[in-house]
Amino acid sequence: MSPDELRPAYPIRTERLLLRPLTAADAEALLAYRSRPDVCRYVPFQPMTPEVIADRLATHWATTALTDEGQSLTLGIELGGTGRLIGDVILFWHSRQHRGGEIGYVLNPEFAGEGYATEAALAMLRLGFGGLRLHRIIGRIDERNEPSARVLRRLGMRQEARLVRNELFKGEWSTEVDFAMLADEFFFRYPDSTRSA
Ligand SMILES: CC(C)(COP(=O)(O)OP(=O)(O)OC[C@H]1O[C@@H](n2cnc3c(N)ncnc32)[C@H](O)[C@@H]1OP(=O)(O)O)[C@@H](O)C(=O)NCCC(=O)NCCS
Repeated sequence: MSPDELRPAYPIRTERLLLRPLTAADAEALLAYRSRPDVCRYVPFQPMTPEVIADRLATHWATTALTDEGQSLTLGIELGGTGRLIGDVILFWHSRQHRGGEIGYVLNPEFAGEGYATEAALAMLRLGFGGLRLHRIIGRIDERNEPSARVLRRLGMRQEARLVRNELFKGEWSTEVDFAMLADEFFFRYPDSTRSA
C-alpha cells in the first residue's frame, strides 16, 4: 500500500471503543444525536432529518478509504461490548502536497463525560499521522465550544490562532479557534504509535 493513501482494517479497536464505517443499520442511532439542535449548535450542519441521514449514508459516509486529497473519512464510534453507536469521528485529507489534515467529532450527549470523544479522536490522529503520514493535523472550533476545546487540548493539540468574528455561522458571527499538531509532536507524545498504523 502506498503511504499516500489510507485503507484501514476495520474495526479499529481502542481501549473501550470500536471505530468502523457507518451503515444503513446506524440510521436510527445517528438520528438520535444528529437531529438535536444542542448537538448541532457549533458544527457546520443543521439538525438532520432521516432523509438527510439516509443521503449521507449513501454518499459521503460510504467512504471507507482515503485515496486522494479533498476526501474525508467518517467512522462510527461503537461502545465496545455493547454494539451501540455513540457518535462519529471524521478525518479530512486537505492537501497531498502539504500533507495536511483535520479532525472532527460528534458524540451522543448520553455518552458525554467519559472520554470517548477524546479516545476516538486519538485513533483518528493515529490514522492521519501513522497511516496517511500526514505532517500536520488541525482542529477548528467555535470559541464558545469549550468541551470541544478541552478534547483538542487533552489530545495535546496546540492553540495557534483565534480568528475574531471570522464566519457568519448560523446567523451570528463566530470567533474561530484553530488548534494544530505536527507529526513530530504526535510521535513524541504518543511513543507507542507507529508510522504505519
Ligand atoms: C465536543 C464533544 C464531542 C465533547 O464531548 P465530551 O464528552 O466532553 O468529550 P469526551 O468524550 O472526550 O469526554 C471528556 C470528558 O470526560 C471526562 N472523562 C471521564 N473519564 C475519562 C477518561 N477515561 N478519559 C478521558 N476523559 C474522561 C473528562 O474529564 C472530560 O470532562 P471535562 O471536559 O469536563 O473535563 C461533545 O460536546 C459534542 O459532541 N458536541 C457536539 C458536536 C461538536 O460540537 N463537535 C465538535 C465540533 S468542533
